[in-house]
Order: sequence, then C-alpha cells, then structure tokens
Amino acid sequence: MSQIIAANEKSILKAAQILRDGGLVGMPTETVYGLAADATNGQAVARIFEAKGRPSFNPLISHFSDARDIDCYAIMDERAKLLAAHFWPGPLTMILPRREDSGLSDLVSAGLPSVAVRVPAHRVARDLIAAAGVPLAAPSANKSGSLSPTSPVHVQRSLGAAVDLILAAGVSEVGLESTVVSLASADGRPVLMRHGAISVEEIADILGEDVELWQQGDNIASPGQLLKHYAPRLPLRLDAVDVRLGEALLGFGSLKFMGVQGGGYAQDLPDGYCLNLSPDGDLTQAAANLFAMLHRLDELEDCAGIAVMSIPRTGLGIAINDRLKRAAQ
Ligand code: TXA
Ligand code: MG
Repeated sequence: MSQIIAANEKSILKAAQILRDGGLVGMPTETVYGLAADATNGQAVARIFEAKGRPSFNPLISHFSDARDIDCYAIMDERAKLLAAHFWPGPLTMILPRREDSGLSDLVSAGLPSVAVRVPAHRVARDLIAAAGVPLAAPSANKSGSLSPTSPVHVQRSLGAAVDLILAAGVSEVGLESTVVSLASADGRPVLMRHGAISVEEIADILGEDVELWQQGDNIASPGQLLKHYAPRLPLRLDAVDVRLGEALLGFGSLKFMGVQGGGYAQDLPDGYCLNLSPDGDLTQAAANLFAMLHRLDELEDCAGIAVMSIPRTGLGIAINDRLKRAAQ
C-alpha cells in the first residue's frame, strides 16, 4: 500500500525529491487528484501509464506553478496569454504548439506536435511543482476506466503500491477534470476538447470569438482520434524477425541474432539506422523511447521502411503495441 501523508512543507519537499528521482506522487489539485511524474523524464512518464494500466498512450497534461514557465516548452500566443490571465491558476487546460527541443518527454504528448498545459489553483500542487523544479505530467490518479479520485483514499484504493507517495490535502474542490481547449488546431480556431468547470461561453467571451465543440458530452477526447494525428511517413513492419533491404530497425532486447536479408547483422547497419528501444528488454524504458525513436527513424532519407521487432504484449507492452499498430496503419 502506498503511504498517505498530510501535505506540509516537509512532506512536499519529500514528494519533490521522489519526483526528481523519477517516482510517482499522488498530487492534490482543485479538480481531481493527479498522478504526477517529472514531465521531462520519459521513464517516469512511462511509469504513469504502467500504474494506470492504460492500454494506449493518451497525451497527458503538463502542470506548471507559474504561467511564465511555460514559454520554453510551448508557444503561448496572444489568445493563450489572454486565457491564462483570466483563468489561471485554475481548472483550464490549453493545448498549445509544442516547442521543438522543449525538453518535455515525447510520451507526454504521445508523439503529437502539441502539448497540454495547466497552472492548477491548488496551493499544494503549485508548491510541489515549484519544489520539484520541473513541469509535472499528471492524469487523474486512478486505474484506467475507473472513476476519477477526489480524495487521497480514492487514489490509494485505485492505484495501491503503484504510487510512491500520496500527498493529502482534503477533498478536491471542483471534483471534475479541467476544461480542455485547443489553440493548436490546423485552422487555428479554438476548439473545446473537454467540458469542465470553466464553460465554453466564458472562454469564447474572453477570446471574443466562437469556440467550436470538438465533441459533445462531458467525456474526454477519444485518444484513438488524437493519435491519428501522428503517423510516420515511412511504412512500419511489425514483429519483424529480420531487416529487409533498405529498411531501418527499431529493436527491442538483444539484437545479436537480428540479421539483414542478403547478409550481415542489424548492428552493422549504417549509423542511425538501428535504434534499440531497450537493449535490456525493459518495457518502461521502451515506452519512454518509443516516440522519440520513431521520429528519428522517420527522418532518415533513402529509407524504405521501419522494421520493428516484436515487443511482449504484457503490461506497458500492450500500450506500446497499440501505438505501433496505429502507426503501422
Ligand atoms: O483536471 C485535470 O485536468 C486533471 C488534473 C490532475 O489536472 N488531469 C487530467 O488529465 O484530467 P487526463 O490525462 O486525464 O486528461 C488529459 C486530457 C485528455 O482528454 C487528453 O486526450 C487531452 O487532455 N490532451 C492532452 N494532451 C493533448 C494534446 N496534445 N492534444 C489533444 N488533447 C490532449
Ligand atoms: Mg482521467
């Protein structure tokens, strides 16, 4: 069972250290309790998906203690600044174009060129983020498919030992996940992705323009639809047992016996043509590397396709295989 500790100066410092070490912390926010990890540490972010038992990689919200800190990770245009001034700190999440080389893990955005950002109103959340010194990725702190937690005990019951520490600060005031608005749509128009405590009318009022509804109802945007946004340019060949002529390799585990058709071994492929998600066969490390490595291979010129070695269909491997299947379509 994970430990529940009342949030105070000392426990916040302890939680911040856990986060800097790549651990997971149950974080109180005004909306719901979040399952927080260092958003710049791919392996830590991968642990979130593992703990939640998510069968696919849904992009996550990065939480900041101050809106000014967002500038180096995402592009805040005039509209984003307007919304920030009116609704932050508070239950509004904005999806913004991601800065290249932002330092955020690719897994946070599930490989998309955008990133979801929010400055929570809860004092403890902001103190924790400030103490950690990094943005915190945090979905709701519950197993996938179960109800969002609004108290520390909910988090403990749902996630058990998968979370390293739960910071307790009473019941979440709002009790409903944040409103999500996208300012990164193709035509530049603001789109409401998820309803929440801040209404679409309030947002439209501040922006002085209409806000489209991406999806009616109070549910989250379908991850399936989101993930179609990023598909590699090159064809993917899954469960490959060798490398065909002209292909690059995305490996997993030992490459010792991975041959290239026509002769030779994968390890002898030209520089950059052979990447390994995890030489030790560690699924957490593989998840953390997945999107970044797909991007890198996809940028290769004179490459006919990407052969992907088989990855076990257990634990995080289910989410990795789900993403690969979508990318291969
Ligand atoms: O209130 C909340 O927002 C809570 C607390 C902990 O802050 N967090 C939360 O996170 O609800 P999560 O991961 O359950 O929801 C994130 C939502 C999902 O609907 C996801 O699809 C969407 O934001 N999202 C995140 N990044 C996105 C992106 N780059 N593009 C489109 N949608 C994105
Ligand atoms: Mg959720």
